[in-house]
Amino acid sequence: MATAKKATSAKLKIGTKTIDLPVFYGSENEGAIDIQSLRKETGFITYDPGFGNTGCCKSDITFIDGEKGILHYRGYDINDLAEHCEFIDVAYLLVHGKLPNEKQHLSFSKHLNHHSMLHEDMHHFFDNYPDHAHPMATLSAMAVSLSSFYPELEQTKKESIDMMVTRLISKLRTIAAFSYKKSIGHPMVQPRHDLKYCENFLNMMFWTPVNDYKLDPVCVKALNKLLILHADHEQNCSASVVKMVGSAEANLYASISAGICALWGPLHGGANQHVIEMLETILKRDKGNIKKVIERAKDKNDPFRLMGVGHRVYKSYDPRAKVAKQMCKDVLAKLGVNDPLVDLAQKLEEAVLADDYFQSRNLYPNIDFYTGLTYRAMGIPTNMFTVLFAIGRIPGWIAQWLEMKEDPDGRIGRPRQIYTGPTLRSFE
Ligand code: SDX
Repeated sequence: MATAKKATSAKLKIGTKTIDLPVFYGSENEGAIDIQSLRKETGFITYDPGFGNTGCCKSDITFIDGEKGILHYRGYDINDLAEHCEFIDVAYLLVHGKLPNEKQHLSFSKHLNHHSMLHEDMHHFFDNYPDHAHPMATLSAMAVSLSSFYPELEQTKKESIDMMVTRLISKLRTIAAFSYKKSIGHPMVQPRHDLKYCENFLNMMFWTPVNDYKLDPVCVKALNKLLILHADHEQNCSASVVKMVGSAEANLYASISAGICALWGPLHGGANQHVIEMLETILKRDKGNIKKVIERAKDKNDPFRLMGVGHRVYKSYDPRAKVAKQMCKDVLAKLGVNDPLVDLAQKLEEAVLADDYFQSRNLYPNIDFYTGLTYRAMGIPTNMFTVLFAIGRIPGWIAQWLEMKEDPDGRIGRPRQIYTGPTLRSFE
């Protein structure tokens, strides 16, 4: 069947003036109207709160088809990567644009271990941080502090960039484990060079001087898969913040620190923690009655949203949520964990899929709906769930930041507005 003729330009008629705007297409045939000349030619700007219709860049990193529920990192489908890769392979893919060969994998793994320790002075940060601090606050504070411990490297030199990338991916994982140990008053556990990335994290989290923690391969495999599912998601809120800060030529550590704060929000990465809290409330306070929470979510006078449901881009089932749901069942069965919240989550999902309010708005479970249940079965505390989301997302943020730095169309991010406040008033 002949494909519909592709538009090569868009006509915009404002009053008596008509202008032609260029149109271009991406490698997956997404079309865009280039409005860079709009204000100069018409005096008008566009209005698009939340940027739901506005592209900020061209990117080679991640492709999402929200209608079909498709997610590719550098052209590879998320299901294939989650099934066949370790997290550090996907981190390498996102940053370097190709999967590592055996030699590159071993060298990257060695460098990650070489840079896994923290500067001894950083331990004092933890000593003076309140025990009850949320680990996301600690992670963000320590991320920007890395720029004080590691002088501003020549950000243009490739070897400096590789060093920064490896430091961030490795040290933020160590900081995350240390912030957990700090929050429970346990001694911090140093990373080990004989363990790989995910094994090291679990060991730093759960080894204690009185309990020689044994790594469970089921948990190691599950953590690799969970971090891969979170590794990138094109121009999401936190990635946009990382790029916005970087567009002002702030360093990578500061940009990542800002991204961690954006991810912390309950509407974004913080949702995985809030899903568990929502399910626990339904179980304990509402005796498992999901009707109440469904009605609250539909009530326009109630600000409550169903956590882990809905997405700006996916108007179908989030492909990551499908993998997370199956993994939740598999991991809990292998670990012999029977969690009543899992049945409750499945009942809630069924209610969402059967209710016209949600279906008419294309609202489906997203990445955050099932992931927390697996973390919980692995013994990871609820307030660490968003930290794990951040650890997974580090390579994606870095890849997006590096691409922005090399973008020939790149310039400092500065949206416009339409002023609606008081016009000039005399000062008497
Ligand atoms: C992530 O962008 C990314 O890629 C993010 C992410 C990533 O990997 O980086 O995928 C990670 O952040 C996933 C989302 C996690 N957040 C949550 O689960 C919080 C609950 N979800 C909602 O807050 C909401 O769905 C958002 C924030 C995710 C999306 O918000 P939008 O795109 O602004 O959606 P909207 O407010 O325009 O909703 C459209 C309609 C509205 O109703 P009407 O005004 O049309 O009557 O759907 C309703 C909303 O009220 N709606 C919900 C709902 N989500 C949307 N109603 C009840 N419960 C919900 N969860």
